[in-house]
Amino acid sequence: MIPVARPVIGDLEEQAVLEVLRSRHLSLGPRVPQFEREFAARVGAPHASAVSSGTAALHLALRAVGVKTGDEVVTSPFSFVASANSILFENARPVFVDIDPVTLNLDVDAAAAAITDRTTALLPVHIFGYPAGTPALERHGLPIVEDACEALGAVHADGVKVGGRGHPAAFGFYANKQLTTGEGGMLTFGSLEHKVIVDSERNQGRAPNMDWLDHDRLGFNYRLTDIACALGLAQLQRLDDMLAARARVAGWYRSALAGFEGLELPCEDFGGDVRGWFVFVVQLPRGADRDDTIRALYERGVQSKPYLPAIHLMSFYRERFGYRDGEFPVCEDVAARSIALPFFPELTEGQVAEVAEALESVLYTALR
Ligand SMILES: Cc1ncc(COP(=O)(O)O)c(C=O)c1O
Repeated sequence: MIPVARPVIGDLEEQAVLEVLRSRHLSLGPRVPQFEREFAARVGAPHASAVSSGTAALHLALRAVGVKTGDEVVTSPFSFVASANSILFENARPVFVDIDPVTLNLDVDAAAAAITDRTTALLPVHIFGYPAGTPALERHGLPIVEDACEALGAVHADGVKVGGRGHPAAFGFYANKQLTTGEGGMLTFGSLEHKVIVDSERNQGRAPNMDWLDHDRLGFNYRLTDIACALGLAQLQRLDDMLAARARVAGWYRSALAGFEGLELPCEDFGGDVRGWFVFVVQLPRGADRDDTIRALYERGVQSKPYLPAIHLMSFYRERFGYRDGEFPVCEDVAARSIALPFFPELTEGQVAEVAEALESVLYTALR
């Protein structure tokens, strides 16, 4: 079976983790600030805070910019559910707008039109690693929290790396990501004030100068261990190679799938934006049954996933906010036809050819 994702783990990672285990300093130790410094430098941000997940990063970022009960936050319905859920954690309302059919990111004109006097933040998602239109959103003068969980390695047309614009930007380190710590996340920021708040709130509301078990604000346990940070530091050392390998695999897919009638591939980089490759998601030809396609691929030894479902059509969101089919037609069309194919740095050109052959036989022969 060719899996849909697989992390690169070698001697570097094993040694880094072993060293921490042998030091007996497993949490609140030196690897945390070291990982923060090196990650911040990698994306060109002045500050970073390591946290337990991308979701925790989003939650703390929204709190840091002051989102509170009853506020509206404009965001994309075509995302992993955590980006919208993090808004609900603070009893604010996610205001969805439709997406751009090419980049699949939030449509910046629709976002502008959705801003009201209750809007206190904008939450663009750099979906599938393609830079969202954050520079255009900056014109509104509202706080921005970037969901960069899928976008390590992405660069905006103005040369600024995703995560380096100064807004709190949340990264995720789950095992399918460009860089993994098993589970984990990072917030990058331009403002030291934001880092101070986040460092306290990830650690039960403790201020750095407080004695043990002294707390001056509400906080959470969103800490990342030294073991995870050591793994992250090792992964950072090989990040350039892993990103280049992902881009190479994407190129193989483009060639192998060229000419598949009705199949839509991820957009090419344009206008100076650079994708940080995370997944290779294709939209199936209209009329192809996605579930049948996934099953038939599986029978041929290829794992694939429906990716991503539209958030506003999930039962929980429908029930809570009354969303109905047809409200965001571009998102719904893309969400209904998208599947993620196997995609990871060590995927070989031969395996890409196998996936392409399987897909061709399923789409144009077996299911016809
Ligand atoms: C777009 C997006 N947002 C948020 C998250 C949440 O990250 P985590 O799983 O680390 O909490 C993910 C991770 O899958 C994601 O892809």
